[in-house]
Formats: sequence, C-alpha cells, structure tokens
Amino acid sequence: MTNISTKYMGFELASPLILGSCGLSKHLDNLKIAEDSGFGAAVLKSIFEEEIRQDVKKLFDEKHSTHYDSLAYDYLVHYQEKESFDKHLNLILEAKESLQMPVIASINCYSSRGWIKYAKMIEEAGAKALEVNFFLLPTDFNKDAEEYRKEYFSLIKELKENLNIPIALKTSFYFTDLSHFMLHLSYSGLAALVLFNRFHAPDINIETLKYKPNRSLSSTSELNETLRWIGLFSQRLRCDIAATTGVQNAEGMIKLLLAGADAVQAASIFYKNGINYGATMIKELKEWMEKQNFKTIDEFKAKLNFKNIENPSIYFRTQFMKYMAGME
Ligand SMILES: Cc1cc2nc3c(=O)[nH]c(=O)nc-3n(C[C@H](O)[C@H](O)[C@H](O)COP(=O)(O)O)c2cc1C
Repeated sequence: MTNISTKYMGFELASPLILGSCGLSKHLDNLKIAEDSGFGAAVLKSIFEEEIRQDVKKLFDEKHSTHYDSLAYDYLVHYQEKESFDKHLNLILEAKESLQMPVIASINCYSSRGWIKYAKMIEEAGAKALEVNFFLLPTDFNKDAEEYRKEYFSLIKELKENLNIPIALKTSFYFTDLSHFMLHLSYSGLAALVLFNRFHAPDINIETLKYKPNRSLSSTSELNETLRWIGLFSQRLRCDIAATTGVQNAEGMIKLLLAGADAVQAASIFYKNGINYGATMIKELKEWMEKQNFKTIDEFKAKLNFKNIENPSIYFRTQFMKYMAGME
C-alpha cells in the first residue's frame, strides 16, 4: 500500500502537496476542494502590510483631509487595521472549523516591526502555523548586507518570542551569501523555509511607453533554479524545506521531493487547471511510486540531493558547456 503522508512543520500531512498562498486560497470553498483533492495543507492568501497601510492612509485622507488630529488618526489606524484584518481572521476561524488539513496563515511584510499583535491574533483565531513572506529588495545604496540581514533575524526573534505556533519564512534567493544565510536562518527557530518566493517583475510596453507588470503565472522552466537550491540545501539545513516556484505537474513535484524538499507548494498551475488538478498530481505521484516500488515518501525523499548522487556538479554548474547540455 502506497503511503504518501509526510511531515512538515511538525504536522503529519496527508500528502506533500500544499496549495501555496494565492488568490485561490482566500476562499473557504477552494480550501475544501483542496482538502478533498488530497492536498496536505494550504497557505492562505497573505495579508499584506502594504495594503493595510494604504487602506489606513486612504481612510484618513478621506475623513481628515482638512485638519489633523492625532487622536482621531490613532483611532482610524486601529479601526482600519482591524477592519482589514477581520476578514482574514474569519477565514482562519471558518477553515479551522470545517477542515482537517492544516491551514497556514500568511503575512506579507516589508518591515520587521509592528506585526506581532496581528501575528498573535492569527494564532488566537486558530491558524495552525504562520508563513511570513518577507524580503527586502536591497535597493538602498547606504545599507550594507549586514543591516539587511539583521532585519530578518529581528523579525524572526520577535515572532518566536510572541507565538507558540510554528513559523515558516518564505523568501528569495537574492542574497550574496545565500547558503550561509539560509543555514543561519534555519538555526533561528523557524520550523521551515519556503524556497523561493517568486517576484512580481516590471516590464515596459514599447508602444505605449509605459511600465507594465509582468509574469503573472509561472512556467516549468522556472523549476530548475528551485531544484538546484533544494538539491543543495536539503539535509543540511536545520529546519524543514517547502519548495515553491515552477511546479506545473506531478513530475515537478516528484523532482523536488527527490532533491530533498519536505513538501511542495504550487499556485500558478491551479489558476490554469483548477484546484482539483491537485488530485491528478497526487494520483500520478502514487502511480510513479508504485512503478518505482517506493512505499513511502521517505524512501525516495532527497535520494537525488547533491550528497547522494555520483555527479553532484549538476547542482553546482552554472556555466554552459556543450557536453553538459548534450548539444553540439
Ligand atoms: C495570483 C497569485 C497570487 C499570489 N499571492 C501570494 C500571496 O499573497 N502571498 C505569497 O506569499 N505568495 C503569493 N503568491 C506566490 C505563490 O504562493 C508562489 O510562491 C509562487 O507563485 C510560485 O509558485 P508557482 O510557480 O506554483 O506559482 C501568489 C501567486 C500568484 C500566481
């Protein structure tokens, strides 16, 4: 009998497939479909620090455009923050009542301050875990790497001091000392690292001469970079690893598990094929395991990470060589 349950962030998941944080995961109906399709967990759509701050500013500008009253401002900030947050808390409550799979709340922040009270409300509402999407694009010419790094550790420290639920950090690979940094993050008390966040990148329309947003959904070609780092990091970091970006089918999920991911998150593919495509991915994972004679996920997890293969240079090599690519 094939058993696809796996451990992630201290939970026993029914399967390694997690619905990543996205617009789909903000509706209870979709979360139910995910559970019925066999997903192991779901990460709720993030609550964005940026959005809350914009809502607060908008409300304040509307109501107090002519005079400034700091007491009123404080009240409005509190009111609007609560308003923006209540929908999220309700979803957590509803999900807790109607689902068996772990529901992971998500915060997307761009500063390391001011999140603790919300993180606590999330915990009180019944979220099983918290995923914090935090990345500071290093654009400040006056700030060195050390200053940026400190912000990550101070955020984690504060969250750890105030929460009892497990915490995951979802971040990027834009760090000079990526391996060193990830190692240190993995020793900071996090239950998991979610590698890696995918960016909303800018683009330019040369006809209208305007900027335009780009890359809304991912493609398979983005899987390889994820694969590289999961293959290099797995079994060397202290915490669990969820792989994300570029997973479009069961094959992508299996590759990341073979490289050593503890769980695999996907989002774009469910916009393209519907959430119940997860059931197909899980069915194909089981069929593949049966064909390969694997009874459990642990029997093949990390089998192809860089330490366990004959030619680890496939993970290290960055420059193109014709014989590596099999091309003349
Ligand atoms: C429409 C859309 C909305 C997303 N919203 C969030 C979000 O609120 N918070 C977050 O951490 N990631 C968000 N993501 C990123 C996904 O969780 C995921 O990390 C990323 O899309 C890479 O996975 P994929 O290749 O399977 O799409 C979003 C992705 C998409 C496509």
